[in-house]
Amino acid sequence: MMGVPEVVVVSSDGMRSLVVVGGQWGDEGKGKVVDLIAGAFDAVARYNGGHNAGHTVRYGERRFALHLVPSGIVHDGTLCVLGAGMVVDPEALVAEIGHLAEQGVSVEGRLLVSERATLLLPTHRALDLARERARGQGRIGTTGRGIGPAYQDLASRRALRAFLLTDPGRLAERARALMAEHNRELESLHGAEAVDLGRAVEAVVAAARELAPMVGDVGKALLRTHGEGGRILFEGAQGILLDVFHGTYPFVTSSSCLPGLAAVSCGVPPRMVGPVLGVMKAYTTRVGGGPFPTELEDAVGERLRERGAEFGTTTGRPRRCGWFDAVAARYAVRVAGIDALALTKLDVLDGLDEVQVAVAYEDGQGRRLDVPPGDSEAFERLRPVYETFPGWSGSSAGATDEVDLPEGAVAYVRQLERLLGVPVVLVSTGPRRRETILRGDGPVGRFLRRIVGSPD
Ligand code: IMP
Repeated sequence: MMGVPEVVVVSSDGMRSLVVVGGQWGDEGKGKVVDLIAGAFDAVARYNGGHNAGHTVRYGERRFALHLVPSGIVHDGTLCVLGAGMVVDPEALVAEIGHLAEQGVSVEGRLLVSERATLLLPTHRALDLARERARGQGRIGTTGRGIGPAYQDLASRRALRAFLLTDPGRLAERARALMAEHNRELESLHGAEAVDLGRAVEAVVAAARELAPMVGDVGKALLRTHGEGGRILFEGAQGILLDVFHGTYPFVTSSSCLPGLAAVSCGVPPRMVGPVLGVMKAYTTRVGGGPFPTELEDAVGERLRERGAEFGTTTGRPRRCGWFDAVAARYAVRVAGIDALALTKLDVLDGLDEVQVAVAYEDGQGRRLDVPPGDSEAFERLRPVYETFPGWSGSSAGATDEVDLPEGAVAYVRQLERLLGVPVVLVSTGPRRRETILRGDGPVGRFLRRIVGSPD
């Protein structure tokens, strides 16, 4: 009988695993942080969402746009896995693998898709778009990739799962039946055009032929890596405030973004999922609808958008921009169990006269709240209570050491540590790897210092 596998979270050579999550509404710059550290891990696992996520990884002169494949793929020999909690569009995954191959990165033998992952079909995309249209003013502002409808099929137990990719006959039959149901909703409920089933089934089956060798038991592979003394990085997509349970529901994505899902999705013991590194921007952005108390619809907001190049990687949409919201961030630290923070895009705040941070909310009737409410309609009505900090005139752009930062910028980082109660162990001052400051002590800080080495 197989025993319970031994799990070592901290060993003499340092931590054995780490989870990286976004601590706001996504787009915090997780891609750069993960990319910086992924080379030190033997396996990298994505555990939630699908191709709604997106980031660009730079490797030498090459740039890779990744949506589904974990960023570890650019490092030779790293095993990359997609957990059971993901929704996988077979065509999108094949396209991404092709894009990697064109740039000389082969996924062969290194990419494993959980046989239990949910398949996202062309009709899911059509339903996502039709439902958004039907929501009118109340639309969520989804990425239009079909994520919500795919998770809905999972929850209602009619989804197709990735093991079917290895059985084209059964896949074609099941895909046709499910997409026919989707077409009925598209036509009768939304008056939308039905998806051409013949073409859609053919496309899914063609993608399946390429993906079949990559389907398997993710938990087993990760436990083997762990058992051999390897390190595992769990890569969360989106952000804590977009979590389907704990985010600003219904203006959320349809999966959990919390680190706990890493264990659930990958089928490994929760204690194997290591400390949590949260990534937060030095200000706040969100795309799509929903509460955003510190949003700035003025020249400062515009400046953040321009300087921060705040346009969606997946959809190209301009992001809503505003001040750092320490109330929402503190809540994210709590529900996600964030142990340490990576603070990104600090340089975008350079040159402002003053910088504001929301430290509480106020409900218009004199009541102050220090946590976001579960009711998003009530949340929409709240106003931020700001603490104002002096800006700084020098430049933090490209700084590689804390001593090179303007004093005001260092003070700002320390204020955020005070407000959130967790150390900032990494500060990103530009898009390049070397534009990074490692700081602070504590286990995660020390671990990062050991593994990052000297970025190029
Ligand atoms: P969906 O995940 O496409 O259903 O979109 C639901 C909400 O999550 C929308 O507000 C999206 O803009 C947001 N969202 C989904 N993925 C990302 C991401 O990777 N970054 C930022 N926002 C995202």
